Amino acid sequence: MDQRGIHGEWASRWIFILAATGSAVGLGNIWKFPYMTGENGGGAFVLVYLICIALIGIPVMMAEVLIGRRGRMSPINSMRYVTKEAGLPRGWIGIGWMGVVAGLMIMAFYSVVAGWALRYVWTTGTGSLTGMEAAAIGEQFSALLADPKQLFLWHSVFALMTATVVALGVERGLGSAAKLMMPLLFASLIILVIYGMFHGDFASGFHFLFDFEVKRLTWDSVLKALGHAFFTLSLGMGAIMAYGAYMPANASIGKTIITVGILDTVVALTAGLAIFPLVFANPPLQPSAGPGLLFVSLPIAFSSMPFGDIFGTIFFVLITLAAWTSSVSLIEPGVAWMVESKKFRRAPATFLLTGISWLLGITCVLSFNALAEFKPWFLLFKTPFDFLDFMTSQLMLPLGGLFIAVFVGWFMNKQIVERELNAEGHALFDAWHFVVKFISPVLVGLVMVLTLIDSF
Ligand code: TRP
Repeated sequence: MDQRGIHGEWASRWIFILAATGSAVGLGNIWKFPYMTGENGGGAFVLVYLICIALIGIPVMMAEVLIGRRGRMSPINSMRYVTKEAGLPRGWIGIGWMGVVAGLMIMAFYSVVAGWALRYVWTTGTGSLTGMEAAAIGEQFSALLADPKQLFLWHSVFALMTATVVALGVERGLGSAAKLMMPLLFASLIILVIYGMFHGDFASGFHFLFDFEVKRLTWDSVLKALGHAFFTLSLGMGAIMAYGAYMPANASIGKTIITVGILDTVVALTAGLAIFPLVFANPPLQPSAGPGLLFVSLPIAFSSMPFGDIFGTIFFVLITLAAWTSSVSLIEPGVAWMVESKKFRRAPATFLLTGISWLLGITCVLSFNALAEFKPWFLLFKTPFDFLDFMTSQLMLPLGGLFIAVFVGWFMNKQIVERELNAEGHALFDAWHFVVKFISPVLVGLVMVLTLIDSF
């Protein structure tokens, strides 16, 4: 028997692609990917990341979507449905629960960083960076981090923006937002790459991203690349499962997800090609500058370039839009569950859950000032901000993805899986099934174990 959902459906396959790409393309692509590539030595990191996307990310993403479309409900209830169907112990529903918790944890720090972008839309938009000295621009970012009131203000604005879209629902909120914002995002990215080609050191940027030097790799950076592959595709916590639940029944999961995976990767690489040429064209800037890379190097680069304030503004608007269409997918799984199982209406459920993330986010705001030295053992000697990022990206998402792959590969009825993928008799189905059953779980497990061993 096929399930029917209560939350609505994407108007077409294309709206699903835009919404899923909207979830995938976010701060992960434009903020995290460039700075992690910079910190982990460039090309070698990029290569491992691309392998993880192809061998683990895209196959697991298909598995996640197919569970969602089978169950047609929030990740918790969809897991409940497929677990029952397969006659398995209820423990498997834990995948859904861990996802809801991970989503709120990610949202807490995500919203703070998106707040930085909002703040910089303001700064560049008012032209206050034009002609400013590099050192002064660097100090301006440090001053922002040191000011909890400012951070709190923009974090709150972004949380409110997110809640507004989620509260409007699947079609009027998530779907319309994606339809409106994604084309803008692609357009502004293209404008920026062209700008970088003319005003940056394109050749150095290109070599940095694509020259592969094995000796720069460590197990730690391999785990980071793996974790990032999950993060950037919104995998391992049910976000994509929830989106799959709203997918039209006749759309092909395989083709659709490959499209989403490729779009996400292209955006990350393009963002790298927009950013690194500008970094290398301004010698005092370092690719390894860390999380501040985007927020210091770009304003510096733009401040001394023709029409810099216009292009700088476009860039930060781009980041804000990308973050916005992603953050909604962090809250949606929990909201859908409260509507289904706790008889909440959508709006109160949204504001309650976003409120919890927002409160948790205050510890992230303080991680850059009042709590900067607060690195207790129970946060693994990290600030709350770093702890939440580490726990989700490097632990919960890979584990979630591992369990999803094992569930679909080993325990779900293969005929049901084949039918749900609309892949009856398709030549690639068996290859995909093999990857999900053996390759993805073994690779994820291996990387996690080896990193653990290596850190002792
Ligand atoms: N993929 C988004 C990014 O790259 C972040 C994100 C949205 C996410 N939803 C998620 C990450 C679910 C993990 C799980 O910015």
